[in-house]
Amino acid sequence: MSEMLRVHQLEVLYDTSQVLFGLSLHLNAGETLALLGRNGAGKSTTMKAMAGMIASRSGDILMQDRSIKGMPAHLIARAGLAYVPEDRQIFSELSVEDNLDIAFKRGPSGEDHWPIERVYEMLPLLKPLRKRLGGLLSGGEQQMLTVGRALMGNPRILLLDEPSEGLAPIMVQKIGELIQSLKATGTSIVLAEQNLHFCLGLADRAVVIDKGSDVFTGSIEALNADAQIKQRYLSV
Ligand SMILES: Nc1ncnc2c1ncn2[C@@H]1O[C@H](COP(=O)(O)OP(=O)(O)O)[C@@H](O)[C@H]1O
Ligand SMILES: [Mg+2]
Repeated sequence: MSEMLRVHQLEVLYDTSQVLFGLSLHLNAGETLALLGRNGAGKSTTMKAMAGMIASRSGDILMQDRSIKGMPAHLIARAGLAYVPEDRQIFSELSVEDNLDIAFKRGPSGEDHWPIERVYEMLPLLKPLRKRLGGLLSGGEQQMLTVGRALMGNPRILLLDEPSEGLAPIMVQKIGELIQSLKATGTSIVLAEQNLHFCLGLADRAVVIDKGSDVFTGSIEALNADAQIKQRYLSV
């Protein structure tokens, strides 16, 4: 199985305060990896480091066996890695359609797998809202639009940072269905979550982070069967 992404012994500091302590994980092609841990464990920091948005002190980050550590974020994005942040970054003064259009970018080999009509097929909720201003969308709709913007960039790897957080149950279910559909297209996905339940049936494998270190790596089923790890690190 080919490998899309690998983080090896990563250390990250914010000023003088260290938050990642030798974190390691890998993502195989086409799989969905759940990155689980309590609030403050280091999930977003790990994702931002992989996306080149923050520097790491030591360790390495490999994308398809090439080191991308220290590479500027826009080049990592161009190489096919898209980070979908927690704080839904959309343009509130632009329509849904304009938000999508300006996010268009060919993939690393010039591919255009995601014409806008296919993005709407993947996100059917957005289609009737195409003329609506981004700022007038509900939280769930904004989350959908953020994912749509990432797809417009033809990513090979999607990092989804707590996509279900703060959404009503019906929207959480729709986000789950969306991740299933994205998986079916062969996209490799890292899904940061505090909610193990949401990841069951979506993720293939899981890495649990606690205080900036990986404390569990295994199948999502093995994690779900491990009462001790769940209780100690996931408050379930
Ligand atoms: N910009 C920042 N400056 C300083 N500390 C930060 C910053 N961002 C996050 N942290 C700290 O780093 C730790 C990990 O945060 P984060 O990666 O956001 O965790 P998670 O996404 O798992 O909730 C927390 O202790 C948090 O307070
Ligand atoms: Mg976070």
